[in-house]
Amino acid sequence: MTKKDIINSGKVKSVFATDKEDEVLIEFRDDMTAGDGERKEVMTKKGTYNAIISSKIFNVLEQAGVKTQFIELVKPNEMLAMKLDMIPIEVIIRNIATGSLVRNYPIEDGTKLNPPIVQMDYKDDEFHDPMLNHSIAKALGIATQDELDELEKLAFKVNDALKDFFDKAGIILVDFKIEFGKDKDGNIVLGDEISPDGCRLWDKETLDMLDKELFRKGKDDEVMEAYVEVYNRVIPDDEKAKFDL
Ligand code: CDP
Repeated sequence: MTKKDIINSGKVKSVFATDKEDEVLIEFRDDMTAGDGERKEVMTKKGTYNAIISSKIFNVLEQAGVKTQFIELVKPNEMLAMKLDMIPIEVIIRNIATGSLVRNYPIEDGTKLNPPIVQMDYKDDEFHDPMLNHSIAKALGIATQDELDELEKLAFKVNDALKDFFDKAGIILVDFKIEFGKDKDGNIVLGDEISPDGCRLWDKETLDMLDKELFRKGKDDEVMEAYVEVYNRVIPDDEKAKFDL
């Protein structure tokens, strides 16, 4: 596999072409951003921890029958992946009420949501990722009704598998964001990453935050400790032995 030209540079990941038409190399950088990219810092080894955690989670999801773009981790911070035509929708699942939900609606912080809430945001920093509903998504021409239904169905399936996966590591999956794309045959496939950057993760015992929310709250010096804690809990020792961390 040869790393070729850069195709896209996002806020925290860069995507490179490879010698295969339908594969890309995703480099997880050490950048951390908040507020639609308005605040940006470098967090040493963040890219590596996120790439390894994401790879593990994609493997878990494949075993649960969810098709993902993950092929293999070629370097600790570089993931070989199936090339997808990304759908500009952030699918968010909420198992516990917090954040904007408790600011905008009469619901108490920490309330268990059963069934979980599924929400879709339009991925566009310029418009600050506004919330979508099905009518708006269809009017924007970004997905058909069948595709919206499938995104929601897949998101719940991801949630079922990940709630259990994190629970075994003593972590509550409070909420998370995922993104999907279409493969060359038009199938909807899970893409992007699933890491402490895009999840709210709380310690089951202490309810301490173990995710990017620490950075959003300005607790920059606690962020990497939390990411390392997640890594230590979800990656088995024999898999850790492969990485020089
Ligand atoms: O919950 P609140 O509205 O305050 O924030 P949110 O941005 O809707 O976040 C809900 C969940 O999705 C959190 O776990 C975020 O980490 C994640 N998310 C994300 O990773 N990236 C975004 N652009 C939006 C949400």
